[in-house]
Amino acid sequence: MPMSRVPRSRRFLVCEPRHFAVQYAINPWMHEDTQVDVDLARGQWAELVRAYRAHGHTVDSVEPVAGLPDMVFAANSALVVAGRVFGSLFHAPQRRPESTAYETWFKNAGFDVYRPEAVCEGEGDLVFAGRVLLAGTGFRTERAAHHEVQEFFGVPTVSLTLVDPRFYHLDTALFVLDDGPEANIAYYPEAFSAGSREVLRLLFPDAVIATHDDAMAFGLNSVSDGRHVFIAPRAEALAGELARHGYVPVPVDLSEFQKAGGGIKCCTQEIRS
Ligand code: ARG
Repeated sequence: MPMSRVPRSRRFLVCEPRHFAVQYAINPWMHEDTQVDVDLARGQWAELVRAYRAHGHTVDSVEPVAGLPDMVFAANSALVVAGRVFGSLFHAPQRRPESTAYETWFKNAGFDVYRPEAVCEGEGDLVFAGRVLLAGTGFRTERAAHHEVQEFFGVPTVSLTLVDPRFYHLDTALFVLDDGPEANIAYYPEAFSAGSREVLRLLFPDAVIATHDDAMAFGLNSVSDGRHVFIAPRAEALAGELARHGYVPVPVDLSEFQKAGGGIKCCTQEIRS
């Protein structure tokens, strides 16, 4: 019998996909001529918000800005730990104005925002795993930002190198199952360099390992509250594996957002108080 997992209620920040579109291509999932079904996207996104609320989580929303089609990917705006906000500096010029839009939301909500000097795409590449912070680099966030984030939070920060452009953000290849002192993760090893794979194996010997198909289905772009795992429905093998470990998969389909290279976690910024 797998152990019974205890959920912890979270505060999430999201951004309605009112202006969501694929107008430029900055990752291999995006193609300039792609039509997005905005009504379908809005319906899928509303389901995600409904699922969070149905499981006892608080969801705040930032006003979307016209002309910023990727602003729906709230995870990239910051990393928030203990009420302290480490903001973003986007790699792509098309996304740079998003930092200010989110900063305005954070300031109005009573948070100070630190602006990184190096390129840093928030929780896209920074994954808080309890005692350590896992920090991705290779395609977006610069290694210099890992140092900045360690200085800012005083949390040991482990740099991990991503090597497959389809998994350009850390949160497309890895997610945290529980973020307490006994934190555990799920990940897709092939997305990482040999050295980073070894680091993950040493730090998380009991990690849940995902398959190539799970990763391609955006199954690693999941959100866990310690018990429920909000996960793409096509990541079937991973969902089964999580269930065997005592987690409860909650399927939420964000297929329309995959056209932009995003999924559940990308649409979700966690505000840790
Ligand atoms: N189109 C966006 C980009 O390429 C998708 C961002 C996905 N966000 C994430 N946290 N992985 O920047």
